Amino acid sequence: MITVFAKSLTKDYNSLRAVDTIDFEISSGECFGFLGPNGAGKTTVMRMIYCFLPVTSGELKVLGLDVAEHASEIKAKTGVMPQDNNLDPDLSVLENLIVYARYFDIPKKVSSLRAWELLDFVELREKADVNIRNLSGGMRQRLLLARSLINSPDIMILDEPTTGLDPHSRHAVWDRMEFLKSRGTTLILTTHYMEEAEKLCDRVAIMDSGKIVVIDSPKNLMSVHGGNLEEVYLKLTGRHLAA
Ligand SMILES: Nc1ncnc2c1ncn2[C@@H]1O[C@H](COP(=O)(O)OP(=O)(O)OP(=O)(O)O)[C@@H](O)[C@H]1O
Ligand SMILES: [Mg+2]
Repeated sequence: MITVFAKSLTKDYNSLRAVDTIDFEISSGECFGFLGPNGAGKTTVMRMIYCFLPVTSGELKVLGLDVAEHASEIKAKTGVMPQDNNLDPDLSVLENLIVYARYFDIPKKVSSLRAWELLDFVELREKADVNIRNLSGGMRQRLLLARSLINSPDIMILDEPTTGLDPHSRHAVWDRMEFLKSRGTTLILTTHYMEEAEKLCDRVAIMDSGKIVVIDSPKNLMSVHGGNLEEVYLKLTGRHLAA
């Protein structure tokens, strides 16, 4: 089954074309990565998928539903870990989860139970009553991951989920992503870490200047172009390694 279908998908910010007539499909249960340099358009694509930004032109369907007409159904089934930390700084760790659950009309009893489970999932139980301001950057990142799971989503959208994490926390997030994938969750992520893409992604789309340069599995890309995924990436985006 196709979870995300995009045809000639385009996004303009006034005169700037951030996403330029791209085509791609993401299958259910797949882990699909968007790779590319700063400004390539990755976050913009993600934001259109989770119905945060309107599409300028082209077709975009999530779970078979058009994003322009079915935003609320799509949002109900989607978990989002945004690139920027948008936790509520006036609330505690636990409150951030509970308050977020209200957006999905999750009953209080269910949300409280789920919030505690998720705090265990990201190893933050002992920080439940701590204010967000007093968390480390990596802990905030883990809380964002927990928050994105509060509605038990079928699709997870993770925009640079491990940027800024220490090696232990990065591996912990990878483990959790692999666990979600084993449960059948579709994962859509962006990353600047080629090791992460190689480890987690079934397929990647390498983007540059709003276009998709190539879509393939890391394995195929490496065998066709030679070298590791970082070398393939540098070659295909024209950003060659310094000699
Ligand atoms: N809200 C906005 N208004 C105007 N231009 C924007 C806006 N958001 C992004 N852009 C522009 O769109 C282009 C694509 O940005 P986007 O955030 O999608 O890139 P990205 O691939 O996610 O980059 P990064 O790796 O730095 O996160 C950039 O040129 C950026 O300046
Ligand atoms: Mg981005």
